[in-house]
Amino acid sequence: MTALSVPAFWVEDNSDPYPSYDRLRAEGALLPHLLDDVPVTLVTRYDECAAVLTGADWGHGYSAGISPFRDTVAAIPGSFVRMDPPEHGRLRGLVNKAFTPRTVSEMVPLAQSVVDELVDAAMETGELDVLNGLAVPLAVAMIPGRLLGAPVSDGPLFRSWQLAIARGSDPDHLLSASDIETRGLAAREALGYFHQLIEQKRANPTDDLLSELIAVEESGDQLSSQEILGLCVLLLVAGMETSINLIGNGMLALLRNPAQLALLRARPELMASAIDEMLRYDAPTQFTIRVALTDTVVGDRQFRRGDGVVVLTASASRDDLVFDNAAELDITRYYGKHPARRHLGFSLGLHYCVGAPLARIEAEAAFRTLLDRAPDLTLATETVEYQPSLIHRGILSLPVRLS
Ligand code: HEM
Repeated sequence: MTALSVPAFWVEDNSDPYPSYDRLRAEGALLPHLLDDVPVTLVTRYDECAAVLTGADWGHGYSAGISPFRDTVAAIPGSFVRMDPPEHGRLRGLVNKAFTPRTVSEMVPLAQSVVDELVDAAMETGELDVLNGLAVPLAVAMIPGRLLGAPVSDGPLFRSWQLAIARGSDPDHLLSASDIETRGLAAREALGYFHQLIEQKRANPTDDLLSELIAVEESGDQLSSQEILGLCVLLLVAGMETSINLIGNGMLALLRNPAQLALLRARPELMASAIDEMLRYDAPTQFTIRVALTDTVVGDRQFRRGDGVVVLTASASRDDLVFDNAAELDITRYYGKHPARRHLGFSLGLHYCVGAPLARIEAEAAFRTLLDRAPDLTLATETVEYQPSLIHRGILSLPVRLS
């Protein structure tokens, strides 16, 4: 693996953060840390992470003006991922409508046809970059393409904005001046692009979530144009970055664990369990933040209103107090009986990922099709390079041989 030059943080080597997480959990469940000169607590173990994520005393605290964290999404008005009730529930409720089991199941044939077309073309050459040749175009077709009704030919634009904004989600003191400038530029360009798209949909509604949101706005006062704009950017970034990385990280985990890959081929009914296990074992989102909204207690620690914590969900998902053989990829772990606790790959509580069902259908179509079509799938590289990000864990490319 290639190590990247990220300044020291709580992770020594972001190409493999897991030894750092093991060390942190051994040190304690709640560890003091300085983040950008702000004293915070790192929450390293499963039970304490789950307590914070599901606790009513915890939230983001921006609207109450008590957050010690800089709000990276303040400029994006509909971005409810960093909001507290009641604003959070209002916006989430509207977006949730797009993710009913029925609407999501209607997206399965589209995911399958996009994957079929991409894998068919790759079979002719015998080679595929699973990241850029499959996961990225699939996410473009499903999120800006299907949900927002944008032209998929603008895929390179979406990918570049999404990467720049995702890179900019790490704390600012870990970013270069150019990262910060690129993030700002990408956010402005994306907002400008979606502003135009919204005007087009207002004139000519189509069958997508964006047109539905515009209809909600026009029917009353529940949603402002600024909020619709923010929702577009939120869905673009929250949806693309993560679902691409689930396919990349998950496929790499299978290729590096050939017995598990063989087991999945032999027992395709394990697919749903395998996807959960990939989210536990090597999660696309490594941590989140929370702020104590009132004085409260977690474990043996007293927190004051306004105290910030970094919830290391990817560390919690490897906690051996909760998961047997936590460091091993075991695709049967979640099959049928649910012996293990839920992983924290999609978080827990109020902010539990809205797009989880969509992420699952994308991943399932990609893995099932590759396994069916390419019986001799092998990794075509010795080294894998990771994005220079701590919050998002994703590889830059994943070349494989299909035959
Ligand atoms: C494997 C893919 C995905 C992963 C690992 C993932 C992960 C997460 C996590 C960890 C959170 C919660 C953050 C927190 O608690 O602070 C979250 C929230 C969210 N995700 Fe996902 N996500 C994925 C796919 C998607 C997709 C496909 C979409 C939409 C197209 C999406 C939209 C959202 C939104 C809107 C939120 C905010 C929810 C809220 O604050 O109530 N995600 N996601």
